[in-house]
Amino acid sequence: MTTASAPGKIILFGEHAVVSGVTALGGAIDLRAKVTVRDLPGSVLIKTEELVLRGFSLDLTTDRLTSTQAAHATRYISAVLREFGVKDIQVCIDSSLPQAAGLGSSAAIVVAAVAAISQHCGLGLSRKEIAEISYRLEKKVQQGLGSPMDTALATYGGYLQISRDIQPLDLPPLEMVVGYTKMPHDTKSEVEKVQDLKKRYFDLVDPIFLAIGAISKRAVPLIREQNPAELGQLMNVNHGLLVALGVSSRELDELVYAAIGAGGALGAKLTGAGGGGCMIALPGTAGVDALMVALRQARGVPFKVMTGCEGVRLEGDL
Ligand code: MEV
Repeated sequence: MTTASAPGKIILFGEHAVVSGVTALGGAIDLRAKVTVRDLPGSVLIKTEELVLRGFSLDLTTDRLTSTQAAHATRYISAVLREFGVKDIQVCIDSSLPQAAGLGSSAAIVVAAVAAISQHCGLGLSRKEIAEISYRLEKKVQQGLGSPMDTALATYGGYLQISRDIQPLDLPPLEMVVGYTKMPHDTKSEVEKVQDLKKRYFDLVDPIFLAIGAISKRAVPLIREQNPAELGQLMNVNHGLLVALGVSSRELDELVYAAIGAGGALGAKLTGAGGGGCMIALPGTAGVDALMVALRQARGVPFKVMTGCEGVRLEGDL
């Protein structure tokens, strides 16, 4: 039996603008997906212990499916098993990441599964190979969509600066609160919407993208010097620019304003594609608990997270 786990991620700054090559900044978080594989002669079985919202189990030999969450995770695991031609196996997923929320849940599941299979079958894949294979598989399941950011963060952890290429950054951890709207989002349609806006109003949208890129770059020394007050201000400006691009929603804005108001956050913004999914907030002097209460009162699901966490790892003694 072999277990590997991989982290989810948040985009701190730069979503959407990064699609046009502008700098973005992402961080791995301490919510992880854990994948355990064990020999199961004569069968291929995918199970989950906990997928935050509800559990399921699926027997691939009979194709019995019990929920859409199952369908979601199973598509990724099936792609991994097919890639390596693995049979006679049981795969258990245990994830603390909500799915389709923009926190990189599918990338974490794929990366942990590839690492677990690599170890279990003695393939000896390097981190680079795990990242490359996982990116290819995630993209295939998502029909061509998906930036390499999620799978790279799930593999390497830490912080990554993304523009035309991906660069690791050595920065201290940050304590943040994620607020989940419980509204699913569709990354593809949000990206298309923004790119369409850019085509129609290039003279307006291009400067917005450039401003977002400037924010991502300015944020790096602020995280390094641990200057949360200014970092929070940049989050607020970035959120306003994302609102201008049309990717926020009433639910996201309500959580952002609850965080900055009653929650006493130093800054807040949506994270990821928008339209639903999650926002992030930087706790102020009122602390993390006040922020969590404010987000709950605004009908969000809050998660306390640390950024810059460890990438994929094998879980010992199993
Ligand atoms: C989605 O998590 C982030 C976007 O910038 C799309 C992407 O980078 O692939 C909206």
